[in-house]
Amino acid sequence: MGFSNYLIQWYLQNKRELPWRNSQNPYEIWLSEIILQQTRVAQGLPYFESFLAHFPTVFDLAKASEEQVLKLWQGLGYYSRARNLHQTAKIIAFEKKGQFPKTYNELLGLKGIGTYTAAAIASFAYDEAVPVVDGNVYRVLSRYFNVDTDISSSKAKNEFTALANEVMDSKQPALFNQAIMEFGALQCVPKNPDCSVCVFNAGCAALQMKKVQSLPVKLKK
Ligand code: ADE
Repeated sequence: MGFSNYLIQWYLQNKRELPWRNSQNPYEIWLSEIILQQTRVAQGLPYFESFLAHFPTVFDLAKASEEQVLKLWQGLGYYSRARNLHQTAKIIAFEKKGQFPKTYNELLGLKGIGTYTAAAIASFAYDEAVPVVDGNVYRVLSRYFNVDTDISSSKAKNEFTALANEVMDSKQPALFNQAIMEFGALQCVPKNPDCSVCVFNAGCAALQMKKVQSLPVKLKK
C-alpha cells in the first residue's frame, strides 16, 4: 500500500464529522472554505451554520445587503473575505444564473478564489483530480518525504503542488484531499505530534531522520 492508501484508511477511521463534508454542493463548499481560510474549525462551524440558515443558496446571499453579510461575519475578522464572498455571489447568481464554474481553471477566474479554494471546490463538488495545497499539506508532505524547501519561498508552492499531484489518489480526489488536511489538523500537528501512534511511523522520512520538529522549513515569519 502506498501513501495515499494509508492516508485514506487513517481518515476513514479518524475523521471528524463536519457538515460540509457531506455536501457536493459547490456553494456550501465554497462558503465553508472561505470561512475556514484563516479560522479554526471550532470557531468557523457556527458561522457556517448561521450563513446557511440565513442564505441557503447563492441567490439568497446575492440578494442580501452588504450590511447583512458583514453583520453575520462579525467576529471572524478579515472582512475582505466577506466582501469578496458577497461580490462573487452576485456574479454567480445574476451573471451566471446561479451556475458555479465546474472546473478548477474556470473557478480561478472568480474574485476571492485562489488555487486552494478552486482545488477544494473542484475536487469536493466535481471530483476533479486537483490537489489542495495549504499549510497542512506542506507540513505532511515535507515530513513524510523530507522536503526542506522553505515554505515561505515562491518555489515551494510549485514544488509541493507537483508532489501532491504525484501522490494523490486521482480516482478519489475528494477523499484524498479531505484526508490529507485532516491528517495535518489532527495527527501531523505543528508542535509535538505523537509519532508513536502514527500510521506512517515506518514510512515517514522525517521521523527516521529525527527531523519532525524542524520540518517544514519556514524562514520568513
Ligand atoms: N480547513 C479548511 N478546509 C477544511 C475542510 N474542508 N475540512 C476541515 N478543515 C478544513
